[in-house]
Amino acid sequence: MIKGFIFDLDGVLTDTAEYHYLAWKKLADRLGIQLDRKMNEQLKGISRMDSLDRILAIGNQMDRYTLEEKEKLADEKNEDYKELILEVTPNDLLPGIANLLADLRAKDIRLALASASKNGPVIMERLGIADMFDTVVDPATLAKGKPDPEIFIKGAQQLKLKPIECVGVEDAQAGIESINAAGIFSVGVGTKEMMKEADYAVTSTQELKLEEILKRANQ
Ligand code: BG6
Ligand code: MG
Repeated sequence: MIKGFIFDLDGVLTDTAEYHYLAWKKLADRLGIQLDRKMNEQLKGISRMDSLDRILAIGNQMDRYTLEEKEKLADEKNEDYKELILEVTPNDLLPGIANLLADLRAKDIRLALASASKNGPVIMERLGIADMFDTVVDPATLAKGKPDPEIFIKGAQQLKLKPIECVGVEDAQAGIESINAAGIFSVGVGTKEMMKEADYAVTSTQELKLEEILKRANQ
């Protein structure tokens, strides 16, 4: 019996995945590294420093910067990202998300956020949905990021539920891997190819219907 939903944020509740891409792209351009949308798929769900490492690897610049310099580069990206998210309003909830959250609350299903983003709480406030969530996993407390299951296991624990009583929703391959490894029913939003490991996949958030998800997860 499903009693909780654990959501990723970027690319699931709102399209901040695009803002992450734009901010990384700006930094990559400055460093002379070519980053495109296809490569960006591999950055989804990955922590800020891990993303920077992957970008530097793409440009064969892994050994070019000290840890201190890398922290500066990551800060630079984050400052640009924070500028972009100043524009976020409740209108930026992805299609179907407001209805889904309302349906979940109407059924007393508990909600957790499992985002790798340290900007998550600010974005939830800006979207006007912070109060609907029972708990937020603090990414700063994690030993390992997605695809490790830790973040979704913590989400279930914070909801005081067992993994089998939860559904996890993700748009990143690393996120689906994390949900699956946690023993949670995974719902993926994205192309068939990217979401092939998901227990149930849809191509857009508009198709995330509570009854359809519960029918499959409760089987
Ligand atoms: C994830 C995003 O949710 O958060 C990644 O999918 C991002 O793209 C990561 O890098 C970390 O976000 P932040 O806001 O802490 O830099
Ligand atoms: Mg995401």
